[in-house]
Amino acid sequence: MGAKFTKIKAAILCGAMAMGAAPVANADGMDYETVTDLLHLVMSSDRTVYTRMIVNRLAVEEGVIKASEHFEDDKALVLPAQMFRFGAELVAEETDEFSYSLLSLWPINKQNAPTTDLEIEGLEYIAENPGENFYGEEELGGVTYFTAVYPDIAVAKACWSCHNNHKDTPKTDFEAGDVMGGVVIRIPMDG
Ligand code: HEC
Repeated sequence: MGAKFTKIKAAILCGAMAMGAAPVANADGMDYETVTDLLHLVMSSDRTVYTRMIVNRLAVEEGVIKASEHFEDDKALVLPAQMFRFGAELVAEETDEFSYSLLSLWPINKQNAPTTDLEIEGLEYIAENPGENFYGEEELGGVTYFTAVYPDIAVAKACWSCHNNHKDTPKTDFEAGDVMGGVVIRIPMDG
């Protein structure tokens, strides 16, 4: 995986250099946007499947087990957001070629609030423009990143019923199909 991705990225950089600053797609490689779109497709598909087929089915519809942030003590299912973060942490151990996280303007966990200007801009954009993604570039610690923000949607009753009733939520009126937050994917463009 690491080697393959490096190859894709080298091709991206060659393509970008050949065509100027604008992201390009050509026979030699994929532009940054295509790479983050594909990464996101896998992430969001896995996230939806886990929520619908595990959490929503067993916790909401069948009521045989609950989902809890204290899953070890409670002998419960891990929350969809925890499932997502554990995956992101494993990826971060393997590579620094991309990173991702799940953030929100209305976070239950304050650590999931946006911290960079572009994260805030991206989360506001996807909340105001349903169905659209946000793409930009930002410089952090001397490195330029391609940063994409994708809407995280309330796809199952488990999503909004748990958030609306959580003691730490700043928002209690999420409904089906709402943008509840965003997946941020970052690729360093320099090295
Ligand atoms: C059983 C409760 C529960 C369910 C089901 C659930 N969440 Fe969450 N969600 C949480 C909690 C608690 C957090 C904070 C977890 C953490 O970061 O440790 C969280 C985190 C998040 C975050 C990051 C911002 C924040 O609030 O901290 C987003 C975005 C989010 N959830 C969206 C969703 C969506 C969309 C679904 C359905 C696909 C979903 N959640 C299902 C409880 C739940």
